[in-house]
Amino acid sequence: MDKVKFLLVAVLMTVTAIMTGCGTSTSGNKNVAVCFPNTTPSWERNGSALIKYLEDDGFIVDMKISSTSEEQVAQVGEALKNKPKCIVIGAIDSSAFAEVLEDAKTYNVPVIAFDRIIFGTDAVTYYASYDNDAVGEAQALYFETVLNLRKGGGPYNIEFFAGGTTDNNSHIFLKNIMRIFDPYLKNGQLICRSGQTAFDAVTVKDWYAENARPRIKELLNKYYNDETLHVVISPNDEIAGVILEEFKRAGKPAPLICGLDADPIALDRIRNGQQTFTVAKDPAVLTLKCFRMVKAVVEGTVPDINDVKTYDNGVKIVPAYLCTPQIIDKSNIQDF
Ligand code: BGC
Repeated sequence: MDKVKFLLVAVLMTVTAIMTGCGTSTSGNKNVAVCFPNTTPSWERNGSALIKYLEDDGFIVDMKISSTSEEQVAQVGEALKNKPKCIVIGAIDSSAFAEVLEDAKTYNVPVIAFDRIIFGTDAVTYYASYDNDAVGEAQALYFETVLNLRKGGGPYNIEFFAGGTTDNNSHIFLKNIMRIFDPYLKNGQLICRSGQTAFDAVTVKDWYAENARPRIKELLNKYYNDETLHVVISPNDEIAGVILEEFKRAGKPAPLICGLDADPIALDRIRNGQQTFTVAKDPAVLTLKCFRMVKAVVEGTVPDINDVKTYDNGVKIVPAYLCTPQIIDKSNIQDF
């Protein structure tokens, strides 16, 4: 008898879960969709932190993970069919959503762009990110100080890598680095022996770290047999890992090299003196902001916004909350 009762309760719970989970319940439902890429470890950290905040608050999360832009756009379309109360998108291709997000407007689903802006649609309600200009700026300013460039330090050899071309952040990072380094490249305090400084020449396709390997191999073989490559600008920690592996393979000492994301493995490299620094974008901070945005749009209130001018997506200026990135190097890693 007890067993029968237990089964009945279990069936009832399942039915309730299915009903709320697939969006068929009343207007009080708390179904939200989160569509993220799986391209780097930082997305996993962001994904689990965001799910935790949402689920702890009673939201039911339809989490979708994708590795290509086509897959992601299809997933967003699927998720919208369930008419969630809000959809959060970490875009693989910032420009791929104009069409599919028409459904968000039809179904009245607020859209939050996470970490990467979404272009070409007024369906984007808010943007939760880090201050991407500050990321590139922090990377360049760190080396400007360490290399004493303001006081005429150099010449130093430098090479650049940038993130994937479909991610707007990649362009912002490099633009800010070049803004600071350009005078030093022009006056010879910094020398880029390959001459590859344009975005298209230094991009790492789709941010996949392995795609950086052939280029760093070639740079070392072609330009740095007799010369030392002193500094490498790496757009994130995973790519820095591959670059450092190739230095090792070539029997060369590690260069000064930056990264982004504070991946645990990069923190180890900083402790060991192999990687100079990383820029931390703490998932707990960004996902908390994003969670509060979700909550606000679902409850019909206005979330905390600190930027209403930077992110013009071609159709509207997307109100944003931009968190502040933090440099982590040997001097402060123990506090991180
Ligand atoms: C993010 C980085 C991340 C990269 C690759 C960028 O948009 O800002 O934190 O490392 O994408 O996923």
